[in-house]
Amino acid sequence: MKIAFGCDHAGIEIKDKIINFVKSLGNEVTDYGTFSKDSCDYPDFALKVAKDVALKNADKGILICGTGIGMSIAANKVKGVRAAVCWNKETAKLIAQHNNANVLCAGARFASADDICLWIKIFLETEFEQRHQKRIDKITEIERLKS
Ligand code: RB5
Repeated sequence: MKIAFGCDHAGIEIKDKIINFVKSLGNEVTDYGTFSKDSCDYPDFALKVAKDVALKNADKGILICGTGIGMSIAANKVKGVRAAVCWNKETAKLIAQHNNANVLCAGARFASADDICLWIKIFLETEFEQRHQKRIDKITEIERLKS
């Protein structure tokens, strides 16, 4: 799979471990940064990863910030993106199985690199269950509404 990766300064310490782990599973990773410990703005990286996923240049995205929440809010502004925060093995599975999430978001200030790697593995290996398609279609319909 092609995976787009992004993080802010909160994720920089665990970034290399995550990228190497994702590559070790046989995936190709595009690293959109950040590339230093300097304070930066998570929406910049969320946008790059979300665009890659929306344009189908990447199959899935991974976004890490302090909580995962800011990244998910920003990424979900891009049409076609379903970015979801996970915080344990069960939610890592459910965001794929029920929500057909195409971007996983996680919080580096609340989980270890090992935990997040495991959640990513579960997310990438879990298939969407078609019985939830009607709800995904309703989410897509919301995107079409003019505000
Ligand atoms: C940065 O301090 C922090 O706000 C960010 O990483 C993220 O947690 C936002 O949701």
